Amino acid sequence: MTENYFISRPYVKTIDNGSFTWSSPSNIALVKYWGKKEHQIPENPSVSFTLDHCKTTTTLSFSKKETSSEFSFEVYLDDEKKDDFKPKIETFFKRIERYVPFLKVYHFKIETANTFPHSSGIASSASGMSALALCLMSVERVLLGDISEAMFNQKASFLARLGSGSACRSIEGDLIVWGTHQEIEGSSDLYGVKYPYEVHQKFKNYQDTILLVDKGEKQVSSTVGHNLMHNHPFAHRRFEQAHEHMSQLISIFKNGDVDAFIKIVESEALTLHAMMMTSMPYFILMKPNTLEIINKIWAYRNATNSKVCFTLDAGANVHVLYPENEKETVLDFIKNELVGYCQNGHYISDQIGFGAQLINA
Ligand code: PMV
Repeated sequence: MTENYFISRPYVKTIDNGSFTWSSPSNIALVKYWGKKEHQIPENPSVSFTLDHCKTTTTLSFSKKETSSEFSFEVYLDDEKKDDFKPKIETFFKRIERYVPFLKVYHFKIETANTFPHSSGIASSASGMSALALCLMSVERVLLGDISEAMFNQKASFLARLGSGSACRSIEGDLIVWGTHQEIEGSSDLYGVKYPYEVHQKFKNYQDTILLVDKGEKQVSSTVGHNLMHNHPFAHRRFEQAHEHMSQLISIFKNGDVDAFIKIVESEALTLHAMMMTSMPYFILMKPNTLEIINKIWAYRNATNSKVCFTLDAGANVHVLYPENEKETVLDFIKNELVGYCQNGHYISDQIGFGAQLINA
């Protein structure tokens, strides 16, 4: 399949105005996407848990314009006009116009809100771009008159990817693969797919408590970050390693081998940061409290039978992952031993979720 597959067939219906609201979650990668080629094609496959509580709700209102020569839209975050969001959306529109040719026909009002604080260090690009892509697909569904559920989700993921790579893993749940992997049937560089094989009960309803170590703006944007992988001395080996980790996860998911899962997940988090520490220019995105938390988690795991582990995004915050049956004990551990390392004691309790929802049409 090539990108051309997503060029729309001719529209058979017309619509003058309307609005759609979608709510779409964030996701946390277990095997990380870090490095991309042209057109948002990932250098390696990745897999993520879809989250549940951390999400963006977006209402897209549209009305037909007199002329259709350029994009016309306004953006609001929590009812406040956000002109600084416009360049990113303009870039997104330019990238996807070929696939959703109605973009210049309408004036759009984009109203968006996140369940997590804007300045929490939690990136809203995955949930935000996927919510917007879904709203656009709802418009396209009307214009086409008909589209299968499978094609709707696949194209929403395809469009979301062109907004922010990891956003393509936020359409569905609970475990999503993005990037072609030879042992994972149906996997694609163009969109995310549901992980297609058996997953042991132990990985159902996994918990993710996000410890907010640093709520500041990201020190390195993901665009800059991905670019650091061009000419990186270890890039080639890293991309191979991601393929190997994906292969190993297939049997780990099936057999419920949580110890082996922990090794891969923590190694992936540290490798992501190692890539940033060994690029030119180089960055350290962890903070002293990130390391304190990691050491506390390791000590707790050594002292108990706990299967708690951590992963990291491209920042200082720590995602604490643990099976549902340890919910109470791990939350106690977090409250007693880890909250002190969080900025203003803030953390967000989340868990695996099952994907985006249409709120209003
Ligand atoms: O989707 P982007 O371009 O913001 O990249 C996200 C990269 C990581 O969050 C660090 C890893 C991942 O796979 O989500």
